[in-house]
Amino acid sequence: MAEWTLRCAACGWQGPEDQYYVGCPKCEGFLEVALAKIPSQPVDNSQRSIFRFHPVMPFDPVANDLASYEDIENTPMIFAERLSADLDVELWFKDEMVMPSGTWKDREGFVSMYRLLRNKVSDLFVFSSGNTGTSLARSATKMRGPRLHLVVPKSSEKRVATYRQFFDPDFVKLYFFEGSNDECIAESKRLSREMGIRAEGGFSNYARREGLKLFGLELALTWDKKCDWYVQPIAGGIGIYSLHKAYSDIDRRGECPRILGVQAEICAPMVNAWKDGSAVLEDRHVPATVVPSPYVRVLRTRKPADSYPILKPIMDEVGGAFVAANDQEIHDGLRALYRDDYYRALYRETGKLCGLEPATALAGIVKAIKEGTITRGSRVVLNVSGAAKDGDLNLAWLDGLL
Ligand SMILES: Cc1ncc(COP(=O)(O)O)c(C=O)c1O
Ligand SMILES: [Zn+2]
Repeated sequence: MAEWTLRCAACGWQGPEDQYYVGCPKCEGFLEVALAKIPSQPVDNSQRSIFRFHPVMPFDPVANDLASYEDIENTPMIFAERLSADLDVELWFKDEMVMPSGTWKDREGFVSMYRLLRNKVSDLFVFSSGNTGTSLARSATKMRGPRLHLVVPKSSEKRVATYRQFFDPDFVKLYFFEGSNDECIAESKRLSREMGIRAEGGFSNYARREGLKLFGLELALTWDKKCDWYVQPIAGGIGIYSLHKAYSDIDRRGECPRILGVQAEICAPMVNAWKDGSAVLEDRHVPATVVPSPYVRVLRTRKPADSYPILKPIMDEVGGAFVAANDQEIHDGLRALYRDDYYRALYRETGKLCGLEPATALAGIVKAIKEGTITRGSRVVLNVSGAAKDGDLNLAWLDGLL
């Protein structure tokens, strides 16, 4: 296992993870996992699943028996031949839809729940519109505790029912709440205080960020190509931090690809701040209200004020950009995912359909090519981050394609 400590980015405090920290014990600042040194071999092929990356991860499958806690495997890289020809780039899908609960958030599950186990925390409150919640529920169920208390907006009730098998009531308690995401987050905080149970910190939770780091490690260490652009749909933006951290932790920071972060136009605070050249997210970048759209189910984080100031220097360093896609563009992006045969075949075999989040990200690619941000001939990796959950899609949107 890697030797690692926690380090505060604000005051420099450094110490072992001897308890469950939400922020720096000195100044409440941003905590990061800091590796003591870069290992000569970041991959240990004697291990399976995510445990192969233990030399650069905060867990130790050599000293501890962890194998039964996780079994996800590398996800496929698919060359999108026809779409590449249409767009005049070399486009690859990293297909995260094959994950057990259909989204890349499964990568956060074990690391998040294991952190509770290590620090003897029995219960955790989490807000989720469905994807992170399902992934954490899967891990809580698979690991048989700690217990997860999940606050979900009533509008996402169908979404979380998609994978019932991952919600063992002994380990996952669901609370449905009528209201916007922001109201649900407030309710989650209120309930957690009232019940004396810790609340998960979103972007500030280093376990979640380390979990998504597994995506970047896989891209950097198991694919035989290098890409010019990495493209992802953005809510809180954990994925941007985590991709960059993966390259940093293996001492290849200079090779981190340019990152395109794509938001939905109805809720695009990061795009607003980015266009403004602002180092922080100010109230004028935050949408006053988010008018519901059938094309936007998940990417609805109104005020990612904690993450944006950390993502901005990363995006500057890698030459990245943020862009927004409107409903029509998301619709077209969803259809474009079916330009090649791969997702049609996946649908026929498994019934899984591409989610609106990767459709949004693909819409962002199309836009960035049009605007000249992504130049012709670039090698682009699209994080196909999630499958649609029940109720997400109107099948008429895919008319004639399946
Ligand atoms: C399917 C999917 N894609 C992308 C994202 C965005 O992730 P982040 O903004 O945390 O990197 C999410 C977040 O919930 C998601 O569920
Ligand atoms: Zn500090």
